[in-house]
Amino acid sequence: MSILLASTDFWEDMEVWSKGLQLAMPDMDVRVYPDDGDVNEVEFAVVWKHQRGILIRYPNLKAILSLGAGVDHIMSDPDLPKGLPIVRLVDKKLTHEMCLHSLHWVLHFHSDQYLYRIQQSNRQWIQQSSIQTEDRTIGIMGLGNIGRSIGELLVTQCFNVIGWGANKKAPLEDIKYYYGKEQLGDFLSKTDILINVLPLTENTTNILTQKELEFLPKGSFIINIGRGGIINEQDLLFLLDSGHIAAVALDVFAEEPLPENNSFWSHPSVYITPHIAGQSNPNSASKTIAENIQQDQWLLISFPCDFLLWSFINERHQKL
Ligand code: OXD
Repeated sequence: MSILLASTDFWEDMEVWSKGLQLAMPDMDVRVYPDDGDVNEVEFAVVWKHQRGILIRYPNLKAILSLGAGVDHIMSDPDLPKGLPIVRLVDKKLTHEMCLHSLHWVLHFHSDQYLYRIQQSNRQWIQQSSIQTEDRTIGIMGLGNIGRSIGELLVTQCFNVIGWGANKKAPLEDIKYYYGKEQLGDFLSKTDILINVLPLTENTTNILTQKELEFLPKGSFIINIGRGGIINEQDLLFLLDSGHIAAVALDVFAEEPLPENNSFWSHPSVYITPHIAGQSNPNSASKTIAENIQQDQWLLISFPCDFLLWSFINERHQKL
């Protein structure tokens, strides 16, 4: 049995990933594309932004696993083999990183750090009146494994946390949940700091345009660690210029790397990080991927697209 590791764009050396996977699955033969050997032997593909069209080369492929939390980089391949489970990475370390990243920016905005920075550059000594955490509402779009963990962390810091998702869910203890397009405006109008962790799908692309963003109270903040294509970037710039949105922390963009001439770079109310909010850790992710492959158990979760998106049963358990 062999595993194919394929990526066109990864911040880590493929050798580190290949060693990590080999260590976690000593019985498997880990091959790094294009050195794929006998294509008939490849049963699993572990990928991050793989070369389009290569996966149909493997007739005995059983599943395609993402090296990251998102699977949009897989789904966007027009020549994906049909009917295979496509599996996202649900890794504790990655989730933890995204929680810390969110907490960092929530505190930055909540405690007026963005204003103190400006004041310092103007040598101004002005004490902003502080808002209590329980009077600050953090709205999380996407309450899957990562969104929920972020929400739970913020609840422990006494923030008022609400969430929004596409579908109805079992009620959560400390997080009021809104769902569906009908409740999006209501959710946004109650949100002071919006955190987006939604995956990019046909249904979420451009879901936040000027019309939706104007539901946010004047002076609100956005932290985007989901995908850039979810927020209309021109509309966001317009609302930043008008002051409706006070400041944003963006880790993801419609086009990455962010082109040098993009207006976000020089905008005083925009904080940019280069898609680092949740970097997969080769050691822990390799173990998680190995467990998933060894478990060999797949559970269908609904996903509105031509291909079936499957998830491992253990992910489902974490979500409930
Ligand atoms: C991911 C990402 O999908 O880093 O894991 O964007």
